[in-house]
Amino acid sequence: MNPRLPSFLKTALLATALLGAGHAYAASDSEGIVVYNAQHESLTKAWVEGFTRDTGIKVTLRNGDDSEMGNQLVQEGSASAADVFLTENSPAMALVSNAGLLAPVASSTLEQVGAAYRPAQGKWVGIAARSTVFVYNKSKLTEAQLPKSLMDLATPAWKGRWAASPAGADFQAIVAAVLELKGEAATLDWLKGMKANATAYRGNSAVLKAVNAGQADAGVIYHYYAFVDQNKTGENSNNTALHYFKHKDPGAFVSISGGGVLASSKHQQEAQAFLQWITGKNGQAILETGNSFEYAVGKGAASNPKLVPLAQLDAPAVDASKLNSKKVVELMTQAGLL
Ligand SMILES: [Fe+2]
Repeated sequence: MNPRLPSFLKTALLATALLGAGHAYAASDSEGIVVYNAQHESLTKAWVEGFTRDTGIKVTLRNGDDSEMGNQLVQEGSASAADVFLTENSPAMALVSNAGLLAPVASSTLEQVGAAYRPAQGKWVGIAARSTVFVYNKSKLTEAQLPKSLMDLATPAWKGRWAASPAGADFQAIVAAVLELKGEAATLDWLKGMKANATAYRGNSAVLKAVNAGQADAGVIYHYYAFVDQNKTGENSNNTALHYFKHKDPGAFVSISGGGVLASSKHQQEAQAFLQWITGKNGQAILETGNSFEYAVGKGAASNPKLVPLAQLDAPAVDASKLNSKKVVELMTQAGLL
């Protein structure tokens, strides 16, 4: 093994050797890896630059969204060009995992991430996280009028007053959490209430903009949309505030962005090294210092200091590998939302 390799990489390579991966790794004869990336392009680019700088391993990115790339991987099967899959949310990763397409993640990588931020069975690992929030227009709602639970938003009191982006993977991950926590019948009822009460927009940025402009009193989105906007001009969020449901409410759901290595990859060691790097010190530090405003999930890793700390969000416990995107699409279609 190259003595100049950083120690985290040696650990990763040893771990993958134990998993039965092929020949010993040498940066000079590496063809590099292909990453199917559904995470935000700017965040993944920062990860790739740091990884290539530290290891010499080249990375080719193919960008898309969660459901598009998840379905593509299932269709391509073992013929896929992908070595690694990165998602924004867990359901697309669970889809690929359930199709039997993922190699186990090296245990040294799993150990870098808190148990709450990875699925129980170790087929993939959390790389970042995002929190559900209720964003509201400060001149439309007072703090006393805020809902106690996400489930309240299906009641007649909220008719015509909130917005969401039901077609997006972000919102569908929240619905998957409701399904996992409340069961099918209660989820379908909630979705029917949403259909009656909420206005649909395309994308969470459009939801934030509508709430800021007072076209909707409130919306259900992820936290980082507001922080990213505040970090720029604030023009789409200055009239808004964020309400965190907490109390293990379904609306306090924290969605895990995932990373997995394809079992069909011919570059197992490099692919495992990439996940090891992202979840390690340097990879997680990009979440603390960069402009993504997503949460770090590495043990001992700090998130951006502007964020409400992850530990204070009192999120419900949800096994990310159980989030079922197919059932969510079925129920949302039945409720008339898709
Ligand atoms: Fe998003």
